[in-house]
Amino acid sequence: MQVEKDDISGQQTTGHEWDGIKELNTPVPKSVIWVYALSIVFTLAVWLLYPSVPFGPDYFRGLIGTTSRETILEQVETAQATRAAFGQELVDRDLYALAADADVRARHEAAAAVLFNDNCAACHGTDLKGQMNFPNLLDDAWLFSDDPEQIELILRYGINAAHDETQYSIMPAFGHDGILERAAIRDATEYVLFLSGADHDRDAAARGAEVYASECADCHGENGQGNGIGAPNLTDGFWLYGGDRDAIYDSLNKGRAGVMPFWEGRLSDAEIRKLVLYLQWSRANGKDGD
Ligand code: HEC
Ligand code: HEC
Repeated sequence: MQVEKDDISGQQTTGHEWDGIKELNTPVPKSVIWVYALSIVFTLAVWLLYPSVPFGPDYFRGLIGTTSRETILEQVETAQATRAAFGQELVDRDLYALAADADVRARHEAAAAVLFNDNCAACHGTDLKGQMNFPNLLDDAWLFSDDPEQIELILRYGINAAHDETQYSIMPAFGHDGILERAAIRDATEYVLFLSGADHDRDAAARGAEVYASECADCHGENGQGNGIGAPNLTDGFWLYGGDRDAIYDSLNKGRAGVMPFWEGRLSDAEIRKLVLYLQWSRANGKDGD
C-alpha cells in the first residue's frame, strides 16, 4: 500500500478520508510504551515474589516467602513488647511509691484515663462520680477503703463477682427472706433515717434501735459508721441506693448485692495498677481544687 504523507505536518496519514479531511496516523509515544512494558514486568515480579495465585485450598506463597499479614503480626508483637516494657515499672515497684511519684503520673495518666473510660466509666461515670447503684469513686464514702492495695484487690477480683477470690458484700434481704416482719423493717427504716439525720418517726425509730442493735450493728457498726469491708456508713448522707424512706425500706426488704466485675485476666497487672493510680491521681485533683 502506498504511504501517504500529510503536506502540513509531514506525518503519515491512515489513508481514511471523510469529506476531504484525513486522519493522521500518530504513533503512541515511546514513553507510554515504556511505562506499559515496565508495569507488565513489575506485575510479573510482584506475582512471583509475593503470595499470589490460588491453587485449590492453598496458594502460591511467593519466592521471598513474606506476607503483609506476617509483617503486621510482627509489628503488633514489637509494639506490645515495647508497651509491656513501658508498663513494667508499674508491676515492679511498690504501689505506694508509685502513687507518690510525679514522673510516673506524667508517663501513665493519659493512658490510664483511656483505660478507665473504656472499662469503668459505663458504671462509675467518666467523671468517676458514679450514679445510682454505682459508687462515686471521688467522694470519701468508701464501701471498702481508699487504701491502694485494697483497691487493687477489688479491681483484680471484683465484688460479688464470678471469681473464686471475689470479695462478698451482701446486704441480707430481711423482708424477702422472712428474717424480719414488715413492722420491724419499717421501724428499722425510721432508725436509719434517724442515723442519717433525716426526718423520722421518733417512736418507730426508738423501736428500730433495738432491731438495729440485734440485726444490723454487726455489719454497719454500733453507730451506723460502716465496717470498711462493704457495709456502708449509714450516717454520712452518701447513699448508693437512695436515702429516702422508700429506698431504705427497699434496701432492707429486698437486700442489695451490687456487682463490681473482676478484671484479672481481662486487664494486665500493669493496667490494673494504672487504674488504681488513676483513682489516686483523680482524687488528688479534686483536693487541689482542679
Ligand atoms: C458493671 C458495672 C461496673 C464496672 C464496669 C466497674 N465497676 Fe467498680 N463497682 C461497681 C459496683 C456496683 C460497685 C459496688 C459494689 C458493692 O455494692 O459493694 C463497685 C465498686 C468499686 C470500687 C470500690 C468502691 C468503694 O467504695 O469501696 C472501686 C474502687 C471500683 N469499683 C473501681 C472500678 C474500676 C477502676 C473499674 C474499671 C476497671 C470498675 N470499677 C468497673 C460496678 C462496676
Ligand atoms: C451481713 C452484713 C449486713 C447486715 C447484717 C446488714 N447489712 Fe445493710 N448492708 C450491708 C452491705 C454489704 C451493704 C451494701 C450492699 C451493696 O453495696 O450492694 C448494705 C447496705 C445497706 C443499706 C443501703 C445503703 C446505701 O448506701 O444505699 C442500708 C440502708 C442498710 N444496709 C441498712 C441495714 C439495716 C437497717 C440492717 C439491719 C436491719 C442491715 N443493713 C443489716 C451489709 C449488712
